[in-house]
Amino acid sequence: MKQKYNYFHGNSNKNFVIDSMSKYIIQKQEMDKQLEKIISPFIKGRSLDILDACCGIGHISYFLHRISPKSKFLGIDQTPYLIDEATKVCNGIKNLRFEVGDILDMKYKKKFDMTINWKTLSWLPYYTDILKSLFKVTKSHIFLSSLFYDGNIDFEIKVHEFKKRTSKLGFTSYYNVYSYPHFEEFVYEIGAKNVKSYDFHIKKDLQKPPRDQMGTYTLLLKNGSRLQASGAVLMLWKIIRIDL
Ligand SMILES: C[S@@+](CC[C@H](N)C(=O)[O-])C[C@H]1O[C@@H](n2cnc3c(N)ncnc32)[C@H](O)[C@@H]1O
Repeated sequence: MKQKYNYFHGNSNKNFVIDSMSKYIIQKQEMDKQLEKIISPFIKGRSLDILDACCGIGHISYFLHRISPKSKFLGIDQTPYLIDEATKVCNGIKNLRFEVGDILDMKYKKKFDMTINWKTLSWLPYYTDILKSLFKVTKSHIFLSSLFYDGNIDFEIKVHEFKKRTSKLGFTSYYNVYSYPHFEEFVYEIGAKNVKSYDFHIKKDLQKPPRDQMGTYTLLLKNGSRLQASGAVLMLWKIIRIDL
């Protein structure tokens, strides 16, 4: 049985969530820039049906439609106020559409040429059900980003932010870091033809937020590269392309 999970608790923190996600449009994130580079050869000049699964305020569709103006984008998210915001942000752009919906309940079968699932898997209880749903609706490629550890260990992490109102509801959010080899094995098992991973190395410094808040900051290593962290969690990002 599929495990249903409500990512946000009603409208608590609504304004905070919208404000945090709106920043992604005002200032393009380094990882979003890297996705654009990786995905461009697959979408530029083409006319595709693209699903933005768990789209938030739809910033990924908003950026990618400029690279692939002939493609049709559908953003689906379970949080109604984010879909309202996405619709406002993308108002007037004909090939972008947004719907409230649960990715685990989609009725489509192999409808989309490509699916994007951006910065979401690590914030869910686990990835198996959602990936099966994405495989069911996608014909050719899935692009996703999440936190992955290179060894055969999963880290299932629940983060309680005690100064946040929602922390009273049990826990605030997951920050899971998944075993990459185990994840890869799973996607081959459910039918992937090929899987390619791209590590994400940030090239600029991010300041540490106040101690009681989660939020990505960087630590400079001796070899000049930067390690990303949020609170006590290492943000070991990978961008992954799954060919079906
Ligand atoms: C960490 S946010 C990422 C949002 C967006 N992709 C981004 O990059 O900003 C995860 C999003 O997934 C949505 N979500 C979680 N589970 C879902 C599900 N089963 N179906 C649809 N949306 C879901 C939440 O409402 C939330 O907007």
